[in-house]
Amino acid sequence: ALTSLSGLERGTLSISVATTAHYFAPKLLKIFCERYPGVNVKLDVTNREQLVSQLENNIVDMVIMGRPPENVDVESGAFMENPLVLIAPADHPFTREKSIQLKRLANEVFLVREVGSGTRKAMELFFTQHNIPMIMGMEVSSDEAIKRSVQAGLGLGIMSRDAIQNELQLNLLSAPDVLHFPIMRHWYVMHRKGKRLSPIAQAFKDFLLQEAAGILNKEPTLRDAAQLQTPQMPPLKAP
Ligand code: PGA
Repeated sequence: ALTSLSGLERGTLSISVATTAHYFAPKLLKIFCERYPGVNVKLDVTNREQLVSQLENNIVDMVIMGRPPENVDVESGAFMENPLVLIAPADHPFTREKSIQLKRLANEVFLVREVGSGTRKAMELFFTQHNIPMIMGMEVSSDEAIKRSVQAGLGLGIMSRDAIQNELQLNLLSAPDVLHFPIMRHWYVMHRKGKRLSPIAQAFKDFLLQEAAGILNKEPTLRDAAQLQTPQMPPLKAP
């Protein structure tokens, strides 16, 4: 049959995603794999630094991460917003306040991801840009462990909203309303420039760019809980 020539019947899709992207990737893969049931998926979950090296060495079909790298020539496309929110224990005093001044974060201890994490980079840049000294607490190499550490009261964190919906819904964590949050980033799909994608890889890339945001933003459980806890920042007033 004609369709057997399309290359979409079977084959392997090999993708690598940033640790925080693994919270939503399965929901997309479920739909994609229903559409192309012959496809075998290999999903690697790792941090930004490793993703950049995989891009450089061209060892996966494509990667999903928070921002294109500076020194690798890639083709990239943003497909969804990736707001980073402040996370605190559910009973933190901040949860009873609104529009908290950013400078108050200077009195809090922050748990940070390992060097090489895109989230950590974004967090450091944010504190530097706003001229807030950051008191660094534990360095923790997993988002799950950061969430548990915040819950345990070891400090506050900054994390992709996609990673904390369950905890917000179950009231295990809070996302206090601090001015200048969320830190707005995007999720990008990318591969090395000029790479020849297999038909199935091309289909997945198109699927991400055209459908992912619509699918995930429609998921009632996926983003609503977080939105309730992180109201939109009011427009900045002139000084
Ligand atoms: P990471 O991912 O913090 O796990 O490296 C997020 C990103 O790439 O921005």
